[in-house]
Amino acid sequence: MIEVGQDLDKAIQLLRANELVAIPTETVYGLAGNALEEKAIRKIFQMKKRPLNNPLILHIHSLDQLATYCQNISPHAYKLAQAFWPGPLTLLLDKSHRVPDLVTAGSAQVAVRIPNHSMTLHLLQQLDFPLVAPSANPFTTISPTKAQHVVLYFADKLSYVLDGGDCQQGIESTIIGFKENQGQVYRLGSLAIEEIEKVIGPCVLLNKKAEQTLLPGMFHKHYSPRTPFILSSDIQQSIHINSDKKIGLLLFDQGMKEEVVVQKLLSPQGDLQEAATNLYATMHTLDSMGLDLIIAPYFPNLGIGKTINDRLKRASAK
Ligand code: TXA
Ligand code: MG
Repeated sequence: MIEVGQDLDKAIQLLRANELVAIPTETVYGLAGNALEEKAIRKIFQMKKRPLNNPLILHIHSLDQLATYCQNISPHAYKLAQAFWPGPLTLLLDKSHRVPDLVTAGSAQVAVRIPNHSMTLHLLQQLDFPLVAPSANPFTTISPTKAQHVVLYFADKLSYVLDGGDCQQGIESTIIGFKENQGQVYRLGSLAIEEIEKVIGPCVLLNKKAEQTLLPGMFHKHYSPRTPFILSSDIQQSIHINSDKKIGLLLFDQGMKEEVVVQKLLSPQGDLQEAATNLYATMHTLDSMGLDLIIAPYFPNLGIGKTINDRLKRASAK
């Protein structure tokens, strides 16, 4: 049976025994295991039903640990780490021999970050190994931002969820790699690209096609509810065309006059950060309402709004 609690000692015991524990971070809940033990790493892939070619993020607690697990760390990487860690930024760096190939799916590079959640930082400080932690959801489904989401996904598979409350950011970390001294965006995330560019200058956004050939892991379809989901540039028309269906709307700051079963506003104040924080939890709620269809508009395409649009596109991908 799955248990939810705040018992760090229990989490430590389980992790030392190569068991998995769901952990809170500022972005989403992670499904964590000992990053240096193949047995634990394999359990993560199995529990998530994730293909082995989709690499995992290494979670550490201090910048001092970076050189243990990575090498050839560029000045740009250090600048970003200093500016944003602990925080929702993952750096893609050359790995050291200490990182098992299973973590990186055979790649010579490892993704690494320091999460910004006090409970998880305390946990990492007490372990003598780093944790690998993908989002704690089955492959392609909506990521969890509450302990209860993890329970719904893994009630019969996982024994412990460390409950650190609702995730403050609500969307995964931004992933940045480097090529010829320029930042490359592998995944849009909670840290806006504009913020990163203030520190290291213009970055290249890898497009989806390039990502797919580059990285089998970065599938287009992702973050998907079970309910059919449309991203629409004309909501009124989409409602009209689907008038025979039970529709739920996922909106930014303003309701629609049209009659639908439910309308959820992510931020009545029109704050994109608040909208990002509420995005997945609201998708989970809409997905549990027995609707025929969820319709969302494009959000303002700036800052974290770009990340919201990225997730909505992936959620609606066939
Ligand atoms: O916010 C986050 O990053 C959360 C929390 C739990 O820390 N974790 C997370 O992990 O989102 P996951 O496994 O759901 O997503 C990891 C992403 C995948 O898209 C994977 O392809 C990419 O990181 N990734 C990991 N290692 C990589 C590598 N060596 N090269 C390229 N991409 C990598
Ligand atoms: Mg994920």
